[in-house]
Order: sequence, then C-alpha cells, then structure tokens
Amino acid sequence: MSASFRSSRQLNSPLCTLQVNGEQHLLPLSDEASLMHVLRNDLSLNGPKYGCGLGQCGACTVLIDGVAARSCVVPASGVQGRAITTLEGLGARERLHPVQQAFIDEQAAQCGYCLNGMILMTVSLLAHTPDPTEAEIRSALSGNFCRCGTHVEIIRAVKRAAVLMHTQVERGHDPA
Ligand code: FES
Ligand code: FES
Repeated sequence: MSASFRSSRQLNSPLCTLQVNGEQHLLPLSDEASLMHVLRNDLSLNGPKYGCGLGQCGACTVLIDGVAARSCVVPASGVQGRAITTLEGLGARERLHPVQQAFIDEQAAQCGYCLNGMILMTVSLLAHTPDPTEAEIRSALSGNFCRCGTHVEIIRAVKRAAVLMHTQVERGHDPA
C-alpha cells in the first residue's frame, strides 16, 4: 500500500467525523492521513502500535465494524460512519474482555509489542468462528508477527479465550 497514507492530518483539511470506541470525534483530516496516525497522534490512543507501516506485521490492528483491519494502511477519511474499536475500547481495567483475560491468564507476552494485534485479531476470529481449531487459529494469526517467539502461549490464550467467551454467553453476559 502507498506510503502516502502515513502522513498526519493537516489543519486546513476538511472536517471528518470518526466514531472511535463509541465516541464521535470531529477532526480535520487530509486524504493521506492514516487511521493509525490519527488514532495515536490526534486521539492519544496508543493501543495500535507502529510496526512496519506497510500492512505486513499486524501491530497496528483495530476493529472496523467488528472486523480486524490494519490501521497503518487505512485512510482515516475513508472510515467515516464506521465503528472503529481500538484495544482501549475492548474492556475496562475492572472488567476485562475475555480475550484480554485469556492472554493474561496464559502469560502470552514477553515485550508485548505484538499483543494489540494478536488480541484484536483473536476478537475478530472468535466473532465468526467461536470454536476455532488450532489450524484455524494459526491461519488467522499467521499475518501477525511476534518477534519474541511467544506463539505457543498465544495459541493457548486464543483457545482459553474461546472457552471464556462461551462461559460469559452462558451466564448472559455480552463479551463484545
Ligand atoms: S504497522 Fe500496520 S501492519 Fe505493520
Ligand atoms: S511478545 Fe514481543 S513481539 Fe510478541
């Protein structure tokens, strides 16, 4: 994808409305501003991490209408009217999302840089595949890179997350 999506917004750009974590934000956005830069630089949401900037590592993953997307290659002005969710919007400190809880339970982190992408990719996977096989988990996460080699723990965390999600649904809680 073009590197031109990586510049920040410009003050003389047209105003656009972004819906992020349930809140509306009115921002001047140039056509070139990437969603990742707007989230991090303008809205101070540092869940999405800057890895490759080329759509290849998954560190910058967010959910757009519940589906995982790489925010470094998404033009911010193109997602007006869509529901954007970052890691910050997933759960609260006092009530973690089951996927967050599962990653903590399995201690599926070393440096943690990849976890934003791993967690949101898992949320996206479990939304349409609630009982994934290990092969399906590996396939879903195959484009998300972990330089620390924590893959075994991450796969265990995804399996645990699926169980926790089922438990919450059975108790009448909506984990979304
Ligand atoms: S920073 Fe977006 S995919 Fe690597
Ligand atoms: S835990 Fe360090 S990159 Fe995955």
